[in-house]
Amino acid sequence: MLRSCIHGQSGLILIVDDQSQNRSILEQMLNEEGWSVAHAEDGFAAMQQFARLKPDLILLDIVMPGVNGFEVCRMIKHDPHSCLTPVILITGLSETEDRIRGIEAGADDFLTRPVERTELVARVRSLLRLKAHTDELERAESVLFALALSIEAKDPCTEGHCTRLSDYAVQLGTRLGLSAELCIALRLAGIVHDIGKVGIPDAILLKPGPLDEDEWRIMKTHPVIGERICAPLKSFDLVLPIIRHHHEKFDGTGYPDGLQGQEIPFTARVLQIVDVYDALATDRPYRRALSTTAALEVMEQEVKRGWWDSGIFHHFSMSIKGSGPSTYMVAAS
Ligand SMILES: [Fe+2]
Repeated sequence: MLRSCIHGQSGLILIVDDQSQNRSILEQMLNEEGWSVAHAEDGFAAMQQFARLKPDLILLDIVMPGVNGFEVCRMIKHDPHSCLTPVILITGLSETEDRIRGIEAGADDFLTRPVERTELVARVRSLLRLKAHTDELERAESVLFALALSIEAKDPCTEGHCTRLSDYAVQLGTRLGLSAELCIALRLAGIVHDIGKVGIPDAILLKPGPLDEDEWRIMKTHPVIGERICAPLKSFDLVLPIIRHHHEKFDGTGYPDGLQGQEIPFTARVLQIVDVYDALATDRPYRRALSTTAALEVMEQEVKRGWWDSGIFHHFSMSIKGSGPSTYMVAAS
């Protein structure tokens, strides 16, 4: 189905109502504004149409046979793949209780019957604009992810590193009691933290032997390049400090800024721990993967040397060994 474009926005709207007359009235008003429309006559058909057409917005009646509007709304909003699709619930006149249940189900807005054309158009337009914006952000994130994974793919030894890092970092962040927002930042940073390596020549990036002084100087620019690449994305605000500071060391001997201890963003310290562990626990050209115990022993030595955050390492170590939930209090985030 073609998605019409009007006022710079495109939009396919799914109308869900068991009364064909109601659907026709809404369809006519939306068509006159240039939007495309699809129909479903009950909750079950709505979910089928939703999966097939991936509409940009849903106008949802509440009272329907079988699965009602609240349940459809809840299913859409609980699925991470569809939760950003706007849902407008159509309620009876001043049905306060319906609105409260609708808010609980995750509805983005409400319209009261009989639906007034100006109000319908204003609400649909506003939510379609928001949806277009979130789609754009998702596309931008996808491009960054593809770029980050293409860099990872250059080196067969690091295959899967970013995805594992992402998972480990979220697990550790959750264990440490970080907010959902910071855990999302860790998930993203796990994938894109080394994206700045796109600016490092392959001769350095893939050099089998040790790097000389000049080559190291160039290699050490990758966190700053990475920060610059991701900076235009507003949704990456909490990710940027992780990208920039993922090679700092607790004693101040890291790069790019030589930050010390608590100066290093907490999330960057979390990522470092899982990054170092994953590097030790996977095969490298010059050695086999270390066992869990051996990898943790190496890290313990590095903590004693002053490189990593001992508190975060302690909780990581406990979680790897399968100990109980953390009581670590997050002092800085
Ligand atoms: Fe790095």
